[in-house]
Amino acid sequence: MHTWATRQKGRGKTIGFVPTMGALHTGHLELVRRAREENQLVICSIFVNPIQFNKAEDLENYPRTLDSDLRQLGSAGCDAVFSPDTEEMYPEKETRVYDFGHMDKVMEGKYREGHFNGVAIVVDKLLRVTVPDRAYFGEKDFQQLQIIRELVRQEGHPVEITGCPTVREPGGLALSSRNIRLSLAQRREAQKIYEALKMAKGLYPETPVDEIMTRVASFINASPELQVEYFEIVRADDLLPAGTEDKDKEVVGCIAVYAGDIRLIDNMRLNS
Ligand code: PAJ
Repeated sequence: MHTWATRQKGRGKTIGFVPTMGALHTGHLELVRRAREENQLVICSIFVNPIQFNKAEDLENYPRTLDSDLRQLGSAGCDAVFSPDTEEMYPEKETRVYDFGHMDKVMEGKYREGHFNGVAIVVDKLLRVTVPDRAYFGEKDFQQLQIIRELVRQEGHPVEITGCPTVREPGGLALSSRNIRLSLAQRREAQKIYEALKMAKGLYPETPVDEIMTRVASFINASPELQVEYFEIVRADDLLPAGTEDKDKEVVGCIAVYAGDIRLIDNMRLNS
């Protein structure tokens, strides 16, 4: 992959890169489409990264649909797919520990210990292999996107990071590889996550953030199918808690909700 990519760059081609864990859906393909538009070549990676999972069963249950992924990437106009096995990515145990300050300790980082360190290690490796001019990430995983911007800054990777809008089902549920595991009732109820985020957007900045947080949590928890793990209102650039006084900065509401044992995350800019 590296040989091919560096050769293409030597020929003056620009490369757009889309890292994924496979089980592709329209959200992923939208990143590919954007990369296609802005670069001469598109590389996509498919690798279920074991070191970013903090529960063994989550890693085992992660959907793997390589044949259909490759077909979809072919029709989306992706030029090359990098799909390494675990030994190739991790010939020896990884010991690197990144320091992202509080950015990887809050929200997802608080409930999924070590998750972002695992994401950072794999994305760093993938960027070295694929030498892209631009790399594309979904805003759906907002905290991940901001941590990757910080990773690229710390490592000095010569790549431009582009965040792409969240692709949703018609009812508002953010597309996710995990959605296929939802029952019909859970899937219908999960639309409340998007409704709750819109409600928060309507309330900010006039309503105090504590009150918005309580109202969002009780709205969702009123559904027997759903349980909020966290809802936080943060500043986009540093992920610190936002107050009404931050209304002129970019402020984002980030949420994690359990539907049965399926964990769903979503977020929305509250002040655009
Ligand atoms: P994965 O969950 O497969 O997601 C790959 C990319 O697709 C991420 O940038 C994610 O934010 C984006 N994405 C997922 N659902 C989306 C949606 N509904 N709308 C827009 N974009 C969406 O995120 C990972 O993999 C991994 O952590 C990875 C970065 C590949 C490192 O292992």
